[in-house]
Amino acid sequence: MPDEPLTSSVAEWTRAVELDRLRPSRPIAVKLHGKHVALFLHQGEIFACNNRCPHEGYPLVEGTLDADCVLTCNWHNWKFDLKTGATLYGGDNLRIYPAKVEDGVVWLDTRDPPAAARIEEALGHLDQAMVEYDTARIARELARLAKAGAAPAVALVRVIHATHERLRDGMTHAYAAAEAWLRLRDTLSSETQRLACATEALAHIAFDTLREKIYPFTAECAPWTAEGFAAAVESQNEDAAAALLNGAFAHGLHFADLEPTLAEAALAHYNDFGHSLIYLMHVRRLIERLGPEVAKPLSLAWLRSLIYATREDLLPDFRGYADALAAWPANGRPGGTPPGADAFEGQSARQVLDVTLAAAGNAPLDIYFPLMEASARHLLRFDERHALRTDNSVADNVGWLDFSHALTFGRSLRQQCARQPHLWPQGLLQLALFVGRNSVYLDPNVPAQAAIREWAVTDEAAFHERAIAAIVDHGTGLPIFHAHWLKTWSAVREEVAAGLPAGARVAMLAAVNRLLAVRFKQRHTLRTAHQALGFVGKED
Ligand code: FES
Repeated sequence: MPDEPLTSSVAEWTRAVELDRLRPSRPIAVKLHGKHVALFLHQGEIFACNNRCPHEGYPLVEGTLDADCVLTCNWHNWKFDLKTGATLYGGDNLRIYPAKVEDGVVWLDTRDPPAAARIEEALGHLDQAMVEYDTARIARELARLAKAGAAPAVALVRVIHATHERLRDGMTHAYAAAEAWLRLRDTLSSETQRLACATEALAHIAFDTLREKIYPFTAECAPWTAEGFAAAVESQNEDAAAALLNGAFAHGLHFADLEPTLAEAALAHYNDFGHSLIYLMHVRRLIERLGPEVAKPLSLAWLRSLIYATREDLLPDFRGYADALAAWPANGRPGGTPPGADAFEGQSARQVLDVTLAAAGNAPLDIYFPLMEASARHLLRFDERHALRTDNSVADNVGWLDFSHALTFGRSLRQQCARQPHLWPQGLLQLALFVGRNSVYLDPNVPAQAAIREWAVTDEAAFHERAIAAIVDHGTGLPIFHAHWLKTWSAVREEVAAGLPAGARVAMLAAVNRLLAVRFKQRHTLRTAHQALGFVGKED
């Protein structure tokens, strides 16, 4: 859908009202060229403003004007300097119209400022709304941007530059979800839904950076080498790795030149639920959408998240990963019959690694599909009581997102390996760990086929319609939850479009159907208190 500019073709001065109809204590409202205007007579001067309060649209003609020419909207007490339109208390500024009196008649200039000026003003106000995490104002300013002909991408570029150093731990789901929100927006025709998507994109970033100070990246530059970058990441040296990125961009390299190395670094460990690779896919897509000017800030934010990512393959449960990777045959070996999802479902991390390694001679996709099907079956068989418990140990803090990550990681993996097939072994073994880690949380009384039947999607088009409606009007407070709804549904829809065997397709659609039906428990205060008491009790 194009973002059409609003243009004004009205004459400069328009006759508004006879002067003698105005009294200092009696402002009046007029409608000119479709605009609702409030007119005030104050100390012999005429002032005209938008009659619709920029907060929620109540009529300012019902407001209170004091001796200092401060207009108060009595609905929520916002205050405006009626001479300039500046907001003295509240948020958005008030639109003021130039006025003049000639021959006892009040004339107004209701032309809109040039689009460029309106865009600049809305972007400035959006900055304030972001800092205050004022979602309603974010929506209003985005609507004003659209009215002036600017797409939300314009705002997102600015926001990325303003926020990428405010992410203490580097990239979060907010940037990744922003890309997914704008991608969803592209497919929608409803203006309201489109604005909701753009608002979610920016509001999540505002939430994640709210009250955060700046954690600057180094400005040093070093000559780019892939080996140097891998070594800097391996030693968790953010400054050294960032200097190499700085050097690369300073010498004219593009993200596409660096991406293969970044992908290898993302998969060098079983990292933090696969976020590094998931985020990298969204970074690439954001750069493709927004242009090269966001390549450096996004790459640096992504790098920081990689540097601080938990290397789960160093944990006892997942240590078999390194051995399995080392044992992966370099040139393949004769493959037997590819395993089915049954071979992975319900198995431990060690067992799933073994089955995956034993299947190494098969085509990667013939291992990938059953792993994804098993991931979907696990989500379908997740015993929700684990997500609701309040008396469990920290080690058993498990929830829906532990299951959804396998599907989003898998989507990123398939995309990346289409570009870099040599990364399949790392990716498949890491996908195997996703499957194995969740086996202990399945409901033993729910067989996979029964769960698939319960959540089966029979009409895919209708399902996607319902999914979009649910995602756009999610009703959850913490953005991390609806971001995962969006990203998991998007991943599954893209996987279906890319092509899946029937078993994987049915299971993955059913899994996302179940996920979208979940009402997340967003806080776990009682569980946290239980775990804190247990921990502190053993502290001495
Ligand atoms: S509508 Fe005017 S302050 Fe809320």
